[in-house]
Amino acid sequence: MIQDSHIWTEKYRPKNFKEVKGQEKIVEKVEAFVKNKNMPNLLFAGPAGIGKTTLALVAAKALFGESWKQNFLELNASDDRGIDVVRHTIKDFARTKAMGDVPFKIIYLDECDSLTKEAQQALRRTMEAFTNTTRFILSCNFSSKIIDPIQSRCAVFRFKPLEEKETEKVIDSIAKQESLILEGKAKKTLCELSEGDVRRVINILQSCAATTKKISEDLLYEMSAIARPKEVKEVLHLAVKGDFLKAREKLLDIMLHHGLSGLDIVKQIQKEIWDLDISDEAKIKLTDKCGEIEFRMVEGSDEFIQLEALLANFVKC
Ligand SMILES: Nc1ncnc2c1ncn2[C@@H]1O[C@H](COP(=O)(O)OP(=O)(O)OP(=O)(O)O)[C@@H](O)[C@H]1O
Ligand SMILES: [Mg+2]
Repeated sequence: MIQDSHIWTEKYRPKNFKEVKGQEKIVEKVEAFVKNKNMPNLLFAGPAGIGKTTLALVAAKALFGESWKQNFLELNASDDRGIDVVRHTIKDFARTKAMGDVPFKIIYLDECDSLTKEAQQALRRTMEAFTNTTRFILSCNFSSKIIDPIQSRCAVFRFKPLEEKETEKVIDSIAKQESLILEGKAKKTLCELSEGDVRRVINILQSCAATTKKISEDLLYEMSAIARPKEVKEVLHLAVKGDFLKAREKLLDIMLHHGLSGLDIVKQIQKEIWDLDISDEAKIKLTDKCGEIEFRMVEGSDEFIQLEALLANFVKC
């Protein structure tokens, strides 16, 4: 079934507990639930691409073997068609008992933090109604957005971005299977660029591999839509020196060249502030400003105008 055109995040998705990197304590507990064929409802919290869906799938496969597909339902809580459709699908699925010797089916509900409080109340009632036949694994980025009555009905697991040495294991294994060579400091650079998000690691590797098997740092920066820190630094130096026009020109150039969004740029600018040769007080002010600009962008205001305003602050400091 796996062809070369297959996306690597699926091709290299761990198939058993051992293949899941990092998250050791969580993996250990979930493995124990599976072994005992007894599991509470679970809440998986944490940022994107670090193994939440993967671990749920691994658990389902370990519990149900061949028939996992009949006993595992994956849904997105933020389904465009509304939470009612989600509830209907859940009801249909949970109406029948699990096959085999496991006394429950599993429903994996992604993006639960996108649900309103009311929808979460409804979800909580649904969870209660089907407790005899079903276990829920809820997934979210921020557990603080999940109402207490749901949290208290779940064992909460906090997933963390992978540490560098764990990320390296993923890179090494894929590089070996795809005969890729990571030149110079490329491996370290990839770890840094991905910030512990394995999906990002794998996607960047796959886009690089489409052009060449020899992966350089340059190619990584190009493919990851991230400007080199050096380039962003240059923009900031120009601005701090007072050359607003050159800074603005260079910034536009970087954005177009790398296809970066305003948000990508603000994040990088914010990282570079502390290395600038300006007073601590100015650094604090600029960091604060980055937060404000980021908020405005998220709210939908014109990205380039916001970036120019941010640059103006560097000139003033
Ligand atoms: N801990 C991990 N060990 C090995 N591979 C991983 C790990 N986490 C993620 N991956 C890889 O990244 C891909 C995406 O992971 P996954 O779907 O589990 O992310 P997620 O945590 O559910 O993210 P999201 O919040 O965006 O749904 C997987 O297909 C797998 O290839
Ligand atoms: Mg997921």
